[in-house]
Amino acid sequence: MSTAPFIRIVEVGARDGLQNEKANIATADKIELINRLSSCGLQTIEATSFVSPKWVPQLADAAEVFAGITQKPGVNYPVLVPNLQGYERAMAVGVKEIAVFTAASEAFNLKNINASIDESIARFEPVMARALSDGIKVRGYVSTVLGCPYQGAVRIADVVHVAERLFQMGCYEISLGDTIGVGTPAKARAMLKAVAGSVPIAHLAIHFHDTYGQALANILACLEEDVRVIDSAVGGTGGCPYAKGASGNVSSEDVVYMLHGVGFDTGIDIESLSDTGRWLSALLGRQTSSKVGKALGAAD
Ligand code: HMG
Ligand code: MG
Repeated sequence: MSTAPFIRIVEVGARDGLQNEKANIATADKIELINRLSSCGLQTIEATSFVSPKWVPQLADAAEVFAGITQKPGVNYPVLVPNLQGYERAMAVGVKEIAVFTAASEAFNLKNINASIDESIARFEPVMARALSDGIKVRGYVSTVLGCPYQGAVRIADVVHVAERLFQMGCYEISLGDTIGVGTPAKARAMLKAVAGSVPIAHLAIHFHDTYGQALANILACLEEDVRVIDSAVGGTGGCPYAKGASGNVSSEDVVYMLHGVGFDTGIDIESLSDTGRWLSALLGRQTSSKVGKALGAAD
């Protein structure tokens, strides 16, 4: 048994990764992706998103995907839910954990969910009330924590305020998203430190997109603030269709390789994970964007 400190990876490739793909991905392939991921040792696999299919047609088969996966004991399969309608759809297929999402930028929220920050929180209230009475865990996302494609700079105070509101509403964990990957290490660390002044660090997660190649450096800086939950996507897939210029999430393979290298345990088998990343990338008709995935593939 490892005595290394543990980091929980929240694998978002099946949701954040696939929501932004132009190619039509078969439901059976989405199910296979999630099943492959659970066999890599991941404990949290975001499976899909019960948003409006008019807004994100890529995930219109959310119910079929969720119903089709083989749930491995001990693994959580959260899904995104924007409103009560999404909550009902998720409950109909037996979802046990959901994530609600808003942003620190008003301009981004209007583009992404057609609501102001206040309106989005008001939408979550009935969802949260139902979830609490149904025994469903709720995670909360705050997007644009280090910059917004429409508004530009985002004040740290706004990030703190939104994170605090989600936490007070009952979200057990708040994921801080650098949606367009513009952050750099000192800024990322300062933002996390400020949020941790209001929401205990044990309830915070970080979610970096790698648009400017800063994600691993940002993660390392945030580890120094004692964050222990990291979102990432196998193969470096990802991006929000409503965030101009957003590209892939930091790849899970690169994060896991770095974490193991600096002395953390993740419970994840890096070889199987990088196989899965290459399998997914081939399915998407391109090379994996994970450096570790490429290196391990070349070594085979
Ligand atoms: P709206 O158009 O303002 O809402 O969308 P509406 O209530 O008028 O609904 C429009 C239509 O969608 C209606 O159908 C509804 O029934 C239907 P119609 O009457 O026209 O036939 N509808 C739904 N159908 C199924 N499931 C639902 C649902 N809700 C409405 N849940 C809404 C508002 C929030 C629904 C919409 O804007 C939406 O779905 N947005 C989601 C956008 C999205 O998924 N973005 C990506 C996820 S966020 C992200 O990637 C960032 C993150 O990774 C962190 C980071 O990187 O920062 C999390
Ligand atoms: Mg994202």
